[in-house]
Amino acid sequence: MTNYKFLEPYTFANGATVKNRIVIPPMTEESAMADGTVSRDELHYVSLRAGGVGMFISPVANVTPDGKGFEGELSVADDRFIPGLSKLAHAMKGHGSKAILQIFHAGRMSSSSVLRGTQPVSASAVAAPREGMETPRELTESEIETIIQSFGDATRRAIEAGFDGVEIHGANTYLIQQFFSPNSNQRTDKWGGTVDKRMTFALEIIKAARKAVDDYAKSPFILGYRISPEEVETPGIRLADTLHFIDTLADQPIDYLHISMGNAWRTSLNDPSEQTPTILRIKKQVNGRKPLISVGSIKTPAEAEKVMDAGIEFAAIGREYLCEPNWVEKVEAGLEDTIHYSINRAELDDLGLTPILMTFLEGMQANIPFEGESENKQGIEASPILNE
Ligand SMILES: Cc1cc2nc3c(=O)[nH]c(=O)nc-3n(C[C@H](O)[C@H](O)[C@H](O)COP(=O)(O)O)c2cc1C
Repeated sequence: MTNYKFLEPYTFANGATVKNRIVIPPMTEESAMADGTVSRDELHYVSLRAGGVGMFISPVANVTPDGKGFEGELSVADDRFIPGLSKLAHAMKGHGSKAILQIFHAGRMSSSSVLRGTQPVSASAVAAPREGMETPRELTESEIETIIQSFGDATRRAIEAGFDGVEIHGANTYLIQQFFSPNSNQRTDKWGGTVDKRMTFALEIIKAARKAVDDYAKSPFILGYRISPEEVETPGIRLADTLHFIDTLADQPIDYLHISMGNAWRTSLNDPSEQTPTILRIKKQVNGRKPLISVGSIKTPAEAEKVMDAGIEFAAIGREYLCEPNWVEKVEAGLEDTIHYSINRAELDDLGLTPILMTFLEGMQANIPFEGESENKQGIEASPILNE
């Protein structure tokens, strides 16, 4: 069966058309060079997966050197990275996928070891409530302004490198989320306090990125925003705060909203009485003002179609795309029966999956199925990068 809705094209309000509704979400393979330059391993990995999907979102790239969160992370913090990023964009765009560069600052989710002796920074000097996390240094107002401009500069570099868009990473506990969270943002100036003030950093970043698009893009350039709906800490982000934030985001000059969750259909992490899947609460709030990307444990064509049936514009397929680099092509060719849902360890090189990525996946308890091995039952819910 090839008449799935997810195979239909989509045209954004800015005029950019993507050939179908399947997205590869950002997945770092920790394979960049030590300074953040794109590596051959990374080019190999993306080349194998490009072409089928409508949009291919890159592994995350830091916008400033002190925004680096982990080893093997891409960087877009300087013009010298443009030639490598240009190769990455070219590889991701193979056969017509739109290439989107995800950009971020890790904030307190970094360490002085990753930053080679520099103390991580955040909205406030509050360590992430996780084992072994360091207390960050509170950013000054002028440093905040510099980071905001860095997102604009990164967007300009993405345009020069030939990407079709950027995704601002406002999710997964990194700096933009840290400014929105009452846990990590305890400031009393214009960047903190009320929920509206805690949105300011994100909104200024959108403004800076939009200005770069308006100034430099010569064809319709896609500007996306990724958000995590909730945190489990107290204090922490609750769904009501997020719905308020989403209401504001839906009126911003962005082209899509990407809702980061480990399971696309999960309900609230904090309120057991809330029975409606969070994605549907968000969809109702957005009320058609922006297209949504839903992500989290979507593997089969039927599961992707269920997202379409709910009126959600895009379905992102992450870990399953590690197992099956030709997922869309196989659906289009009527070869669904041949889609791989597990990884054969003997074929890691053919799949472009490096030993570093394998170790990373184990560390995050990513619950990847390997042929002939029982699944890791601790599963995805244990991992904040996948869940929050
Ligand atoms: C290996 C790996 C790396 C990831 N890296 C990123 C990243 O760079 N940026 C990001 O926003 N999310 C990242 N994620 C989260 C994914 O984008 C996605 O939200 C998550 O894997 C859930 O989707 P799935 O169930 O289809 O895998 C990563 C996930 C995995 C498994």
